[in-house]
Amino acid sequence: MKPQAVIFDLDGVITDTAHLHFVAWRNVAAEVGIMIDEKFNAELKGISRMASLERILHHGGKDAAFDLSAREALAGRKNALYVDSLSQLTPQSVLPGMTSLLHTLKAQGIKTGLASVSLNAPAILTALGLQSHFDFCADASRLKRSKPDPEIFLAACEGLKVDPARCIGIEDAQAGIEAINASGMLSVGIGVGLKHADLLLDSTEELTWPRLEAFWNQQQRACASSH
Ligand code: BG6
Ligand code: MG
Repeated sequence: MKPQAVIFDLDGVITDTAHLHFVAWRNVAAEVGIMIDEKFNAELKGISRMASLERILHHGGKDAAFDLSAREALAGRKNALYVDSLSQLTPQSVLPGMTSLLHTLKAQGIKTGLASVSLNAPAILTALGLQSHFDFCADASRLKRSKPDPEIFLAACEGLKVDPARCIGIEDAQAGIEAINASGMLSVGIGVGLKHADLLLDSTEELTWPRLEAFWNQQQRACASSH
């Protein structure tokens, strides 16, 4: 039996926006006297906008320096810079193999979902020309809890009317892998250094349907033999 659905994270899986987030955060952090580098930025992967700001303020030892409205203003300035930079994205910015994987899954009768905590996800999908490629995109603005909570993956399963236990989730961030595992789906991690992924691949180039199918079948056999 095939999986019912494959549910994808967006940033770092479908396209690589980490550098655009970094440049925008670096500007806003510098405004308040905090320096961040790419290594620190890696810790912000998969983390919501406000939680990212909180980590930056903590990194600069300024946790208590800004009240809620000042934090919202900083987050708003970062987002304006980030949204401007999204004009660089085109269909060529889709990571290797991902458009073809989405087509193959459709041809196999497997549903596709998106589980991104980015409030900019609809604009990014449009810039990439992928807005009609997903059967259901979970709405980040309705989330009560961000990753590593499984809420967004469960919302995607509900929207697709599928059983999490019969789905695969794909992520490039540790918080995302934890969210997938907590949802009861099988987790596939993209990139180095991720812990607890059921399958870990170096890049999206390795993320093909034959690879996913072999992984799925192996997991089903392991599950059947343990019962
Ligand atoms: C995630 C990114 O996908 O979305 C994070 O990995 C980002 O870096 C988060 O902070 C929220 O994005 P946005 O577009 O709502 O600020
Ligand atoms: Mg990501």
